[in-house]
Amino acid sequence: MISRGESPWHRPPTSATAWHRSDHADWTGPIIALFVLFHLADLTWGWWLGDDFVSGDPYHNVAESMGYLPVAIIYVAANIALAWHVFHGAWSMFQSLGVNNPRYNHLRRTLATALAGLILVGNLSFPILTQAGLIDEDERVCPVGEVEGNACLAEEAEGSAADRHTTDGNTTDSAGSVSP
Ligand code: HEM
Repeated sequence: MISRGESPWHRPPTSATAWHRSDHADWTGPIIALFVLFHLADLTWGWWLGDDFVSGDPYHNVAESMGYLPVAIIYVAANIALAWHVFHGAWSMFQSLGVNNPRYNHLRRTLATALAGLILVGNLSFPILTQAGLIDEDERVCPVGEVEGNACLAEEAEGSAADRHTTDGNTTDSAGSVSP
């Protein structure tokens, strides 16, 4: 009988870098696949937001969806799994390309960590900032749903450009009122 340690499918690690093999990244693939389905249902099809889902207004949809703590937690957990997956993927990619030399392994680790870390920080910023109340609609200028075609957003951008570049020393707010 072949014991687990001898089986070709369950070989024990043979080198210090063996833990980087897919064994430790296997569980992240199914989580990411499920997350993509959840994410499409959430922000593309608007399944759980119902009447609160506004097609073509992703800012509103993100604020609504991730403002709900359980959803924010799902995004945080899934994006940690994604970063873990990217880290192992980047590490393995260099190995597949033949960059597997003790002299350069610290560089591989640094590059894999930097890539995964960048994606992690960027993606976690959405649920965290929404939960912290920094992504909300309190200061919103364009009415919800009126961003299709970007006309209002373009006007808003022009308004804030005017705010910054008044020639007479006064400031003009985006509604057009002038204050000294
Ligand atoms: C917290 C991080 C993320 C945020 C805030 C976010 C946000 C969004 C939003 C707002 C949409 C809808 C876009 C629209 O209405 O036009 C969207 C769509 C989509 N996202 Fe994400 N996303 C995130 C992470 C991810 C990740 C990690 C993946 C893939 C692994 C992904 C894959 C997709 C796909 C496939 C679509 C559908 C394409 C589309 O509707 O344009 N997203 N995302």
